[in-house]
Amino acid sequence: MSEAFTQERSSLPQNYLNQKEYRSGYILYFLPVNALKVTSLLQRTQALTPSKNISLRFLDLGCGPGTALMGTFQAVEESLLPEAESLEMHWTLIDQNRLALQDAQAFHDSLLNELRKKFPDKKISSTVQIIVGNLFNQKISQLLPNQKFDLIFALNFLNEFPREKRLHLVEGLQKYQDESGKIFLMEPALRLTSRELMKLHDELITHEVISILSPCLHQRECPMLAENNRDWCHTYIDWRIPDWIAKLDHLAGIKKEYLKCSFLLLGKKPKTYSNQEWRVVSGPLNSKGKTERLLCGPGNLPHLLRAMRQDKDEAFNNHLFDQLERGDLVKMEKQARIYKDTVIQKLD
Ligand SMILES: C[S@@+](CC[C@H](N)C(=O)[O-])C[C@H]1O[C@@H](n2cnc3c(N)ncnc32)[C@H](O)[C@@H]1O
Repeated sequence: MSEAFTQERSSLPQNYLNQKEYRSGYILYFLPVNALKVTSLLQRTQALTPSKNISLRFLDLGCGPGTALMGTFQAVEESLLPEAESLEMHWTLIDQNRLALQDAQAFHDSLLNELRKKFPDKKISSTVQIIVGNLFNQKISQLLPNQKFDLIFALNFLNEFPREKRLHLVEGLQKYQDESGKIFLMEPALRLTSRELMKLHDELITHEVISILSPCLHQRECPMLAENNRDWCHTYIDWRIPDWIAKLDHLAGIKKEYLKCSFLLLGKKPKTYSNQEWRVVSGPLNSKGKTERLLCGPGNLPHLLRAMRQDKDEAFNNHLFDQLERGDLVKMEKQARIYKDTVIQKLD
C-alpha cells in the first residue's frame, strides 16, 4: 500500500477504501501517522486559538477514516483544554467512501468519550455530520449548504483530485471560511505531490485568492519553484517512533526517522514576518570545511538565501545551525556567511 501511495499511484483501485485490506491497512498505519502530523502542525502554526470557552467548527474533505479529527482531538487535549472551561466542536466530514466515514464517526465517538474521561470537570461536546459525496463531479455547494467553519482540512486528498480543478476547489472553499477561518492543505512529502502543492501556492498568490499563513513567511511566488526543477519544500517533524510502527516499517522496508509532509495553512489576513525570520527549506548541505542550508524568508525575495558556515566559525552563538531541520523557523540577520558572532535562534 505504501508503494502504491508513493510510487505506483495508478496501481491503487478506484475508491480503494472499499476493499477491507486497504481500509484496515490505512487505519493501522497511515491514520495514526498522518494524525500525528496534524497534531504537530496545528500546534506549530497555532492554527487553533485558545479561549476559555472553545467553540470550533471543522470541515474535512476526503476525510478518510478521520485523520484530521484524530489529530485535532490530540492537539486540543494537549494545547487548549488544560486552560479552557468548556469545549464544543462540530465536525462535517465529506468522503466518497461511506465505510471510511463510518470509521471516522466511530473514532470520533470513542475519542470524545476518552476526552470526557480525562477532563471530567469540563463541559465537552462534539457532534459529527457525515456526507457521502464525490467531490470530483459534485460541487461542494451541492453537498453542503452555506455555513461557516473555523478550520477546513484537505489532507492527502489534493493529489487524488484533478490538477486543473484544485485552484477552483480552494476558491470555492472561501465562502465556507469564517472571517478568521483557515484552510489546512497537507500532502505527502514526495517530490511530485509537494511540487504540485508549490504550484498551487503560486496560483493562489497570482490570483490573489487567499493569504498564505504557513510555512511561507511572505505572500510572493515560491522562490524554490522559481529556482529549479528539482527541490521540493517539505517539513520534518521529530518523533519517537512507536514500536509497532517500527515493526511494520521493518517488514515493509520503510524508514521513518522523521514524520514528513508538505502543507499550506491559508487564511484571509496575512501574517507579517520580519526580514530576520527564515524558514529552513533544505537539509544540511555539507562539503569539505563548511555547511550550507537554504533559507526562505521575506528578507531575500525573490531568491532563497544560501547560508554558509565554515567549520572554523562554529561557535556557541551559531551552534543551532547544525541542528536545524527542514521546516524550522529561525531568527538570524540576513547574511550569506555565518561567522562566530552570528546569532541563530530557533523560533518554533
Ligand atoms: C489518501 S486518503 C486521505 C484520507 C485522510 N484525509 C488522511 O489524510 O489520512 C484520500 C481520501 O480521499 C477520498 N477521495 C478520493 N477521491 C474522492 C472524491 N472524488 N470525492 C470524495 N472523496 C474522495 C478517499 O476516499 C480517501 O478517503
